[in-house]
Amino acid sequence: MSHENQVELKQNTLITFPALFGLYRDNFLPKDVRIVGYARTKMDSVEFHKRATQYIKGSDNEETAAKIEEFKKISTYVSGSYEDAESFQTLEKHLREIESAYKGSERHRIFYLALPPSVFIPVAANVKQNNYSTDGVNRIIVEKPFGKDLPSSRELLSALKQHWSEDETFRIDHYLGKEMVKNILVLRFANVALSAPWDKNSVSNVQITFKEPFGTEGRGGYFDEFGIIRDILQNHLLQVLSIIAMERPVSFAAEDIRDEKVKVLRAIPPIEPSDTLLGQYVAANGKPGYLDDDTVPHNSTCPTFAATTLWINNPRWEGVPFVLKAGKALNEAKVEVRIQFKDVTQGIFKDISRNELVIRIQPSEAIYLKLNTKTPGLYTRALPAEMDLTYKRRFAEVKIPEAYEALILDAIQGDHSNFVRDDELDVAWKIFTPILHWIEGRSGPRPIPLKYPYGSRGPKELGAFIDKYGFKR
Ligand code: BG6
Repeated sequence: MSHENQVELKQNTLITFPALFGLYRDNFLPKDVRIVGYARTKMDSVEFHKRATQYIKGSDNEETAAKIEEFKKISTYVSGSYEDAESFQTLEKHLREIESAYKGSERHRIFYLALPPSVFIPVAANVKQNNYSTDGVNRIIVEKPFGKDLPSSRELLSALKQHWSEDETFRIDHYLGKEMVKNILVLRFANVALSAPWDKNSVSNVQITFKEPFGTEGRGGYFDEFGIIRDILQNHLLQVLSIIAMERPVSFAAEDIRDEKVKVLRAIPPIEPSDTLLGQYVAANGKPGYLDDDTVPHNSTCPTFAATTLWINNPRWEGVPFVLKAGKALNEAKVEVRIQFKDVTQGIFKDISRNELVIRIQPSEAIYLKLNTKTPGLYTRALPAEMDLTYKRRFAEVKIPEAYEALILDAIQGDHSNFVRDDELDVAWKIFTPILHWIEGRSGPRPIPLKYPYGSRGPKELGAFIDKYGFKR
């Protein structure tokens, strides 16, 4: 199976169907909804149901098992090619058969293209030409990669726009569906205590970090074409940055939010090589190195780790470094934002810890504020302590939805707030394209990434790198 197909299979069985099931189980899907799988693989409905439900968690529970059986009844499958109109006409027949059983005149259709990039445009075109509902709303959900740099992204955008309007298009960045990322807007704009010091006068630096404890594990062929910057920084971490840094939107309406995100991104100049540190993991702790993966070229210089500093040239953030870091095969799984405030004026207190607001996106969602407090007892000394809002403790009863559940529901409801708009994508590529081209050796020799052992904290040079941008431990 090609790497592209593996990615596609993983996306659908591991993520999309479990998310659809989660929405179904919790009664969030519209009453008459039907789900139709479409792919090249020929299989009967038994095999399709087996694949679609294999990663649903909790199937040993009787109630969940019964719901899975119900879910299978609303899910069917059609196989066909991605290029021939005929296949999509077969799909159309199937859709009409389903719809004919329902009363009422509205036939809304949402097409979710979790597909390899190479077939993305032919499928978008075919679906538009053969499966567009004339009696209802049509929407298309698309997944990254949205191109590999600014020119290829623009090409893809304009090819898609020939068939689908921006209003019909929902570009997924699944980080925008994560509970703690969605919480940033509320934290910032519903708390005067936080919104007041949210600028260059109080903030020293911002660190946005993504750490994964596993390597490319069989996905090396795919990963090598993209690298960690395209995989994580240009989309997920930049999206988080834009919400941390944007101005207050006029309202919570999707276009108001997205206008502000675009505005702040436009104030960021392209990344400089001198603000960037690249790494690649090597074998350690009994785990293989990146280059030991058979699907990776033996001399690949593809970075599996990157730290890079972005600057925002606007009055709020001028001079504040936003450090984005992401790596595979590190010592832990963690995604967090750390907003480190400036030192207190030297005077009555010297050498005390800085305030820091930490938003832990995963695992174990939490917000904590590091404060200095008086050491309890008969002293007047400042002691660093934390105000800790760990979700598991504070909201123990609440189930945190999966990112894809939240996003699919938004798409069903036509809410674009948590999807990437065309101009947002364009400006994201403007920021990252020069550094990507530099890494790929288009302007000189390819930079050699620093080595770091599998399971470590990243290249040993990372400490000095973040110190350079004012981070204090
Ligand atoms: C995907 C990347 O977009 O995000 C993967 O392609 C990465 O390489 C994944 O593992 C991480 O998502 P999450 O939700 O597990 O943090």
